[in-house]
Amino acid sequence: MTETIIRTEGLVKKFGPFTALNGIDLEVKKGQVLALLGDNGAGKSTLIRILSGVHKPTSGKIFVEGKEVSFNSPRDASEAGIGTVYQDLAINPLMSVTRNFFMGRELYKGPRPFGLLDMKTMDEIAHAEMVKIGIDVSDPRQAVGTMSGGQRQTLAIARAIYFGAKVLILDEPTSALGQKQQMGVLKTMMKVRAQGDIAIIFITHNEIHSQLVADSFTFLALGEVIGRGGKDELEHDEIRRLMAGGAEISDLAKELAAVSVG
Ligand SMILES: Nc1ncnc2c1ncn2[C@@H]1O[C@H](COP(=O)(O)OP(=O)(O)OP(=O)(O)O)[C@@H](O)[C@H]1O
Ligand SMILES: [Mg+2]
Repeated sequence: MTETIIRTEGLVKKFGPFTALNGIDLEVKKGQVLALLGDNGAGKSTLIRILSGVHKPTSGKIFVEGKEVSFNSPRDASEAGIGTVYQDLAINPLMSVTRNFFMGRELYKGPRPFGLLDMKTMDEIAHAEMVKIGIDVSDPRQAVGTMSGGQRQTLAIARAIYFGAKVLILDEPTSALGQKQQMGVLKTMMKVRAQGDIAIIFITHNEIHSQLVADSFTFLALGEVIGRGGKDELEHDEIRRLMAGGAEISDLAKELAAVSVG
């Protein structure tokens, strides 16, 4: 049986009088990709910030591997196995692949504070971890600035996994990339999925990308779940309708027609 890694129950987030999330339940299993979809302002980032320890929920619960957790900081979430890859990636283009991979968690030869950085081991690990998910950087000592946007995403993903992520959260990892690189990132996701022990939450505006990689879908609109289902349960048209915030495409077409008349 596939195991649930992360589950939320009734998550609510209020910002003053404004309710950004209103009772969100979701669940992701090992080796599965959950696509989290929804229009601008639906609450996707707010939900991710709660799962990654940036915001505290106003109410509701989070369970990691069946145990209830409570995060006071991003570090707490990371220690519980939640690895979040943000759009800005927290990557320094002037530093090497290896130095970015280990940033703040370097390996030393000999006792600190006098030990020297163990560059050889770090280079080997960074290289091997990236190969595992599909990128063979010829030289991990090269500056990240020489890598494509898609390769940088892969670096950030490999780093999160190496440092213990059981849940990988990707916030619009394909949105700033060209077509070819978008496919590269989707391939990376499929490699991680194939490892079988990690759950992925994939936030996207792109329904085609979500259909290429997701096992299940959760649609948010104005802070609520307006639809969900497995890949075999949802028809393409239903996905499009939910992507549009639950509106019928025909109604949207009428609205557009009214604008051009008025
Ligand atoms: N710190 C905050 N204070 C007040 N309101 C906020 C805050 N963060 C988010 N919101 C509001 O919560 C709602 C959900 O925002 P959120 O950023 O989670 O949406 P999103 O689904 O990520 O949208 P997008 O697709 O544009 O990234 C929005 O109406 C937003 O204005
Ligand atoms: Mg967002």
